[in-house]
Amino acid sequence: MLGLRWNCSASPPSSRFALCFTKSSSSFALLPAPLRAFRAACWSQCSRSPNLVELEYADLNLKDFYGAGCVGHVRIRQHVNPLSSSFVAPVKVPEWKQVFSNPSLPLMVDIGCVLTGSGRFLIWLAKHLPESRNYLGLEIRNKLVQRSQFWVKELGLKNIYFMFANATISFEQLVPTYPGPLILVSILCPDPHFKKRHHKRRVVQKSLVDSVVKNLSLGGQVILQSDVPDVALDMRDQFDARADVLKHIDALDANFTCDAQGWLLENPIGIRTEREIHAELEGAKIYKRMYQKV
Ligand SMILES: C[S@@+](CC[C@H](N)C(=O)[O-])C[C@H]1O[C@@H](n2cnc3c(N)ncnc32)[C@H](O)[C@@H]1O
Repeated sequence: MLGLRWNCSASPPSSRFALCFTKSSSSFALLPAPLRAFRAACWSQCSRSPNLVELEYADLNLKDFYGAGCVGHVRIRQHVNPLSSSFVAPVKVPEWKQVFSNPSLPLMVDIGCVLTGSGRFLIWLAKHLPESRNYLGLEIRNKLVQRSQFWVKELGLKNIYFMFANATISFEQLVPTYPGPLILVSILCPDPHFKKRHHKRRVVQKSLVDSVVKNLSLGGQVILQSDVPDVALDMRDQFDARADVLKHIDALDANFTCDAQGWLLENPIGIRTEREIHAELEGAKIYKRMYQKV
């Protein structure tokens, strides 16, 4: 089985800094004194989201590159409209052997991967699991893609590539041309597009779900998450609708447990995305589902 509980050498930052994330004063008072002091120190050190993000990805040592030309702080709009004419044309398929040193390795695709964190979630995975797989980040905001690629180059990583693409449109053009097996697709905290009339702008549409299911290799996995219950339910309904080939992971592996509503209790990846860090700091629940193709 292509399990996602990846065996990273470093202990996952999410557990290293776990004490920073629950802000309830009543539970704080219940802690033993040394732990209270430690936790208070944690709070003063990292209770702002940007600091937490820095800590999560600290071992990438990317901070020195901030502010280098235009690759530091990039001005971006809150949301883009993926249905506008500039985003609906499928992108050109890259020469895979030019973007990955070994294009036959199993592939992970992260859809909507950048935000302001510059793809550090995927870069972290690529750095810590360098030989075992390739990582493709699909992102609709080109400026952010350029910054992420700059960092990939600076780190000298040859197993990760960020691409400007509207994943809803281009996943089907791109992924079947990749020479190796597709073993994992992640869609983590996608843009919510709250208004009902804007739901058609959400990245997860039936065509994307069908393409993911079709291209995933047997045993391949899909991981979804959102801190917005309505978005999580929407993604869940769409992937649950493919129960003919996708089984939820807790039905296959007793190590994965869910709450009463069927959401995973733990982060199965061991590293959090930037949006996940911000949301957890605000006390939000992260709704997670993980499927395996059978
Ligand atoms: C809320 S951010 C989440 C980023 C990251 N996954 C995280 O959890 O921190 C959503 C990202 O998806 C990108 N995005 C939105 N629609 C997209 C689409 N159709 N194709 C590719 N990327 C998209 C946005 O530009 C943004 O960077």
